[in-house]
Amino acid sequence: MRLNASLAALGALTLPIASADYATNGPDENGLYWIYSEGLSAAFIAYGASISRLLINDQYGIQRDIVAGFDNASYYEIDQQHPHLGGVPGRYANRIKNSTFEIDGVSYHVDPNENPTDAAPKGADTLHGGHDGWDYRNFTVVSHTNDSITFSIVDPDGKEGFPGEVISYITYTLKDYTWDFKMVALATTKKTPIMLSSHTYWNLDGFANNETNTALNHTLYLPYSGQRIGVDNILIPTGDILANKQGSVNDFWSAPKQIGASLNDPEAVNNCGLGCIGYDNAWIINRQAPYNWRDEGNYVARLQSPWSGIQVDIYTDQDAFQVYSCNGQNGTLALKETQGLHDDPDFPRTIPRYGCVVMEVEDWIDAINHPEWGRAEKQIFGPGGDPYVLQASYVFSINTTATP
Ligand SMILES: *[C@@H]1O[C@H](CO)[C@@H](O)[C@H](O)[C@H]1NC(C)=O
Ligand SMILES: *[C@@H]1O[C@H](CO)[C@@H](O)[C@H](O)[C@H]1NC(C)=O
Ligand SMILES: *[C@@H]1O[C@H](CO)[C@@H](O)[C@H](O)[C@H]1NC(C)=O
Ligand SMILES: *[C@@H]1O[C@H](CO)[C@@H](O)[C@H](O)[C@H]1NC(C)=O
Ligand SMILES: *[C@@H]1O[C@H](CO)[C@@H](O)[C@H](O)[C@H]1NC(C)=O
Ligand SMILES: *[C@@H]1O[C@H](CO)[C@@H](O)[C@H](O)[C@H]1NC(C)=O
Ligand SMILES: *[C@@H]1O[C@H](CO)[C@@H](O)[C@H](O)[C@H]1NC(C)=O
Ligand SMILES: *[C@@H]1O[C@H](CO)[C@@H](O)[C@H](O)[C@H]1NC(C)=O
Repeated sequence: MRLNASLAALGALTLPIASADYATNGPDENGLYWIYSEGLSAAFIAYGASISRLLINDQYGIQRDIVAGFDNASYYEIDQQHPHLGGVPGRYANRIKNSTFEIDGVSYHVDPNENPTDAAPKGADTLHGGHDGWDYRNFTVVSHTNDSITFSIVDPDGKEGFPGEVISYITYTLKDYTWDFKMVALATTKKTPIMLSSHTYWNLDGFANNETNTALNHTLYLPYSGQRIGVDNILIPTGDILANKQGSVNDFWSAPKQIGASLNDPEAVNNCGLGCIGYDNAWIINRQAPYNWRDEGNYVARLQSPWSGIQVDIYTDQDAFQVYSCNGQNGTLALKETQGLHDDPDFPRTIPRYGCVVMEVEDWIDAINHPEWGRAEKQIFGPGGDPYVLQASYVFSINTTATP
C-alpha cells in the first residue's frame, strides 16, 4: 500500500507513463537498451541505470563510442574493480566523512567502504552509498521509447544504514545532439540525505586517438568555477572553500585549458589525495541569480578534443562539478569492442592512467557534514517535502576544422 501511495505521489511529478513500446523494445542480445536522436545513439543497462554506449561521428565522419563501459550488461556485476562505470551513484554520491552524519540530533552510521585503516578496518569513509550502493543494483525499466528510457529503484529503509525508504526515477532522453537527464527521488518515510549524479567516464576520441592514448589533450573549461571544495589526504572535505587562483593548477575558469597542462606543476602533487597527481575535485558552480540553467551559452563545463573535434557542453541545475582525470586507471580495465585501435601493439586495448575524464554534476560534496554551508535544503529530504531533482543537458557539437 505504501509503495502504491508513493508511486501515486511521484505520478504527480510528470513522470513518463510506461510506454506501449516497452514490450517490443526490450534489450538487445548484450542486455543494452538503445535510444536514438539526430547525431547520437546511446545504450543503457539496468545495472546502476548506467550509460554503456554513446555513439557520435567525429570530424571525419567516423563513429566513436565516447564513454567507458563493458561489452554486455551481465559483465558489470562480475567485474571486480567496479569503477562505477556510467552509473547513478546513490543514495548519496561521493564521500561521507567517517561514514556518519546527523539529522535532527540523531547520528546515523552508514556502510564504510573506502580507505580501510587499523582503527576502521571496513573503511574510514563511505563512497557512493556503500558496498551495495545504487550503482551495484539492477534498476527496473519502467518506460522505453525510441528516444527515451526511464529507470526506477526502490531503496529500502535502513539499506546501507540510511534512514527511510527512497523511491527514484531516472530518465534519459536524446534529442538533436543532446543527452538530457532528469533524476527525481522521494524520501517516503523518514528524513534522509539524497545526492545523485551520473558517473560517466569520457574519452572524446573513443579511445582511438592514434597519437596519444590519454585524455590529457582534452581541453576543459569551467567558466563559473573560481572556487573548489578543499579536501584532505583521502578526499574528504575539510570545510574549506578554496579559491582557484588564476594560472594555478585548478584554474579552469579563466580560460579553457588542457587537462594535462598543469600536471608538472608542484601544486598538482597530492591535488587528488596523498601521492596523487591529477584531479579528483569538486568545483563549485557560482552563478549570479536569477539564471536559467538551460539558456544557450550558460554551460557550466565544456570538454573538447582537438583530435576527434568532438565537444560537449554541460548544462545543469546543480551547484557543484566533480572532475576525475582517471589518475587511478592502470591499464587493467578493458576497452569495449566499439572502442580503441585494433591490432596496434602501441595501443593496448585497455584504459591507461589519465585515459579518461569523469565529470559529475552534483551538489556540494559531503555537505551533510557541513551545516555551515547551508545546503540542507538541497541534501536532506523527507516525507511531505519537496522531491530531490537533478537535471542536466549534455550538448554535443563537432568542430570540423579542429587540429590535434
Ligand atoms: C528512432 O529515431 C531515429 C533518430 O531520430 C530515427 O532515424 C528512427 O527512424 C526512429 N525509429 C523509430 C522506430 O521511430
Ligand atoms: C561480456 O563482456 C565481457 C567483457 O567484455 C566478456 O569477457 C564476456 O565474454 C562477455 N560475455 C558475453 C556472454 O558476451
Ligand atoms: C542484473 O542484470 C544483469 C544483466 O541483465 C543480469 O545478468 C544479472 O543477473 C542481474 N542481477 C540481478 C541481481 O538480478
Ligand atoms: C566516527 O564514527 C565512529 C562510529 O562509527 C564514532 O564512534 C566516532 O565518534 C566518529 N568520529 C568522528 C570524528 O565523528
Ligand atoms: C590517425 O587517425 C587519423 C584520424 O582518423 C587518420 O586520418 C590517420 O590516417 C591515422 N594515422 C595513422 C598512422 O593511422
Ligand atoms: C597535445 O597537446 C600538446 C600541447 O598543446 C601538443 O604539443 C601535442 O602535440 C598534443 N599531442 C597530441 C597527441 O595531440
Ligand atoms: C590496477 O587498479 C586496480 C583497481 O584499483 C587494482 O585492483 C589492481 O590491483 C591494479 N593493478 C595493477 C597492476 O596495479
Ligand atoms: C575548431 O578548431 C580550430 C583549430 O583548433 C580552432 O581554431 C577553432 O576555434 C575551433 N572552432 C570552434 C567553433 O571551436
